[in-house]
Amino acid sequence: MKALVTGASGQLALAIRRTWTAHELVLPEESILDLSREEAIREVVASVHPEVVLNCGAFTQVDRCESEAELAQLINATAVGWLAEACEAQKALLVQVSTDYVFDGTGTRPYREDDATNPVSVYGRTKLEGERQAARCSRHLIARTSWLYDAWGKNFLATMLNAAAQGRNLRVVDDQRGAPTTCRALARQLKVAAEEGWQGLVHTTCAGETTWHGFAKAIFEAKGIAANLSPCSTADYPTPAKRPAYSVLDGARRRSLGPDLMPHWHEALAEVLAHPELTGEA
Ligand SMILES: NC(=O)c1ccc[n+]([C@@H]2O[C@H](COP(=O)([O-])OP(=O)(O)OC[C@H]3O[C@@H](n4cnc5c(N)ncnc54)[C@H](OP(=O)(O)O)[C@@H]3O)[C@@H](O)[C@H]2O)c1
Repeated sequence: MKALVTGASGQLALAIRRTWTAHELVLPEESILDLSREEAIREVVASVHPEVVLNCGAFTQVDRCESEAELAQLINATAVGWLAEACEAQKALLVQVSTDYVFDGTGTRPYREDDATNPVSVYGRTKLEGERQAARCSRHLIARTSWLYDAWGKNFLATMLNAAAQGRNLRVVDDQRGAPTTCRALARQLKVAAEEGWQGLVHTTCAGETTWHGFAKAIFEAKGIAANLSPCSTADYPTPAKRPAYSVLDGARRRSLGPDLMPHWHEALAEVLAHPELTGEA
């Protein structure tokens, strides 16, 4: 399979590079496949002629999206429409990665694909519009995921380990529930999904759920780090963007489609912490 990947420098794109090794991957630098430029998208997709386009590029800084809403709309929504048109012209499968932040978080059980969306942030609204744009391509897979991290990239795990190394007191919110998901698990699942031709909307997170504080505690326990960690509430830690209090996604549709490669988040964390870059063996 020939796959074109956007957002090549991001943490998920790196996981794709390391996981999809049996496939022909094209990962242009962002200066070449710039999602803010319609012409660049059209030209690159036409010249690469991929069977799959994996859109890992996005404006992912949830708080910055609030003050840069136009840019968020351009990258997270408008560009996805351009990708959909370019994929349609090539008869390619468009894999769009989306987010649990399309929900408002007032739910009390894991969200299913057909549950009503109601994003509470610019990031969530623009990503939801991106889903609608992706669906304009006749062959599309929209994979909603959550709380992405891995042994590389800018993410919560890196932030916690850096803060603990500096001996900082850490207050972490304990009233937002979700599912930490590793980029490598998602990359493996997307590989099988693309190979088997899954289509439509699929929730793709690790199993189980926790809070950000629970996630931090598990990281420090697994690493044997005696961090100065305490819980706080969302109200104690105001941010420009609102976040859903509960954004656990139901994986039943995914499990019905084929092999389920999404481990429990605890198991996935152990796999990442054993990575040479985090054990000092790299
Ligand atoms: N991170 C999470 O917790 C999370 C949760 C749910 C869903 N998702 C979704 O998962 C996907 C992958 O996210 P990620 O965690 O891998 O994010 P990431 O590490 O921030 O990667 C996104 C990449 O997109 C790039 N990008 C931004 N503007 C671009 C442009 N104009 N043209 C080309 N590339 C551009 C970014 O480059 P710069 O860094 O140079 O801007 C970055 O390398 C995204 O669709 C995201 O919305 C993420």
